[in-house]
Amino acid sequence: MVHDVAAVSDLPEGTGVTVFVEGQPVLLVRVGDRVFATEGLCSHEEQPLEGGSLIGPTEWLCPHHGGALDLATGRPTRMPVCSSVETFPVRLEGGRVLVVMD
Ligand code: FES
Repeated sequence: MVHDVAAVSDLPEGTGVTVFVEGQPVLLVRVGDRVFATEGLCSHEEQPLEGGSLIGPTEWLCPHHGGALDLATGRPTRMPVCSSVETFPVRLEGGRVLVVMD
């Protein structure tokens, strides 16, 4: 199912913004002309990923315990994050961010 979740202009470059899709938190991060969408909670201790920072082209530092993950794949890149988060396909249409979720 496709969800219209935000305006691209509402996403500052490299800053995570949480939106809620059917009650589920989703982290959006704009990197240049791309937007990544992942689960909104870290796989380490289920803390919000919003408030973290971009530390590589697609690497997101969780704001809580120093762990990191790849926004493109959801895979962990730095301990203590050791399991993946789900990622969601994103389409940009007419200045809107559309997230595809089952
Ligand atoms: S909750 Fe993200 S590293 Fe611990």
